[in-house]
Amino acid sequence: MKKIVFSTGAGISAESGITTFRDAGGLWEQYPVMQVASAEGFAADPGLVHRFYNARRHDLAKAAPNEAHKLIAGLQDSFDVRVVTQNVDDLHERAGSRNVLHLHGELMKLRSVIRPEYTETLTPDNLDSSPDTRGRNGDPMRPHIVFFGEAVPEIDTAMRLAASADIFVVIGTSLNVYPAAGLMRCVRPGTPVYYIDPDPAPTPGMPDIRVMAVKATEGMRMLDRELRGI
Ligand code: OAD
Repeated sequence: MKKIVFSTGAGISAESGITTFRDAGGLWEQYPVMQVASAEGFAADPGLVHRFYNARRHDLAKAAPNEAHKLIAGLQDSFDVRVVTQNVDDLHERAGSRNVLHLHGELMKLRSVIRPEYTETLTPDNLDSSPDTRGRNGDPMRPHIVFFGEAVPEIDTAMRLAASADIFVVIGTSLNVYPAAGLMRCVRPGTPVYYIDPDPAPTPGMPDIRVMAVKATEGMRMLDRELRGI
């Protein structure tokens, strides 16, 4: 089976009603990013950061996977499909993707402030956390999010995956945030690389990249037909 590695960003979830970060009206226009999504911001006002991610969880609870998430999961019948996502939502999993690596953490999990490897999953009836939240083991808990200023623990695994891809597909990212934005440059020479985004960022030094300047659902419909040879 050929291995397809998908590298997805906020744009793949846009048609599910999840607000992106840097588009007009995006989250970073509405909230000061360094207050709600950085290590310094969390140290300065943890309550604000908990409230910000509580609101994101409530938005996610109302959302459902869209056709792009579903087509990716559907390709598992014919390909070895791996998803590396910058997204903290769980829409790839809810669409049925079995191999999803979250580079920037997971909204539906909390993790221990003192033991980073200890996480707990929230349930739909219990979506909120605060600086007073304790884990079942008594640890103080924080959103399981990689804040700006923190290391990206899964990046080595993601780079190895990119280097093992037979086909590499980037969807819905402004390519602003490293190291995730550099993953497409880890592919082996000659690997077909696609980039689906209605407003694609420049990709200097990647002359052979196939840019599809359309929304995720439309781009995935086109790519699905092409990959299945129909
Ligand atoms: P951005 O908000 O920076 O970029 C969203 C991208 O999605 C843009 O390139 C849009 O053109 C595109 N887009 C919008 N609607 C789309 C649609 N219907 N289909 C496909 N694409 C669409 O989001 P990311 O690049 O994912 O990190 O941002 C990367 C990281 O920055 C996030 O993971 C987050 C943020 O700060 C953390 O919070 C750690």
